Amino acid sequence: MGFNLAILISGRGSNMLNIVRACKNGELSSNVATVISNNPDSDGLQKAKRSMIDVKIIDHKKFKNSSDFEKSLSNYLEKKRVNLICLAGFMKILSEDFVKKWDKKIINIHPSLLPAFKGLNPHKKAIEMKVKYSGCTVHFVDKDVDSGNIIDQDIVKVSKYDDEGSLQKKILMKEHKLYINVLKKMEIE
Ligand code: GRF
Repeated sequence: MGFNLAILISGRGSNMLNIVRACKNGELSSNVATVISNNPDSDGLQKAKRSMIDVKIIDHKKFKNSSDFEKSLSNYLEKKRVNLICLAGFMKILSEDFVKKWDKKIINIHPSLLPAFKGLNPHKKAIEMKVKYSGCTVHFVDKDVDSGNIIDQDIVKVSKYDDEGSLQKKILMKEHKLYINVLKKMEIE
């Protein structure tokens, strides 16, 4: 069964666009009900608009506190009848209350083999640690950062010539495939 998806972004939006395309071309049977950005300047917003997707800016800076921001976010998700939330470069940490309310309905992609290199700058950390393999992870979102149950992962080999930028590119290619494969599996579960 396909989902009614919301994709939450803050920046570039390449994973978002990739999911939008897979829904449009029938590779996924889900529908992207909305793309929401907490950052009014994110590049991904224009990409989503060009794809004729419903786009909503919910700028956390315009709210008194996180709880009001999340109320507005939840209201919009309910209005759009969303039943799965895909975080794709969404840089705002969601509270325990929000995560409980949407229990098992929020997934995220992170560019490392979790539980290694949680949080910011995972590529930099991987290069600094001289790991031989890194990769990406799709996981359920819980109250802690990059820590919910892992749904699937993919690996890349890190060569001695890689730097942060080249590793980021290698992993991003894998991310695009992994996110779609995870959604495909979840659709039939
Ligand atoms: C990706 O590397 C994703 O794993 C991380 O943020 C980045 C977002 O990239 N959470 P994009 O906006 O999807 O291009």
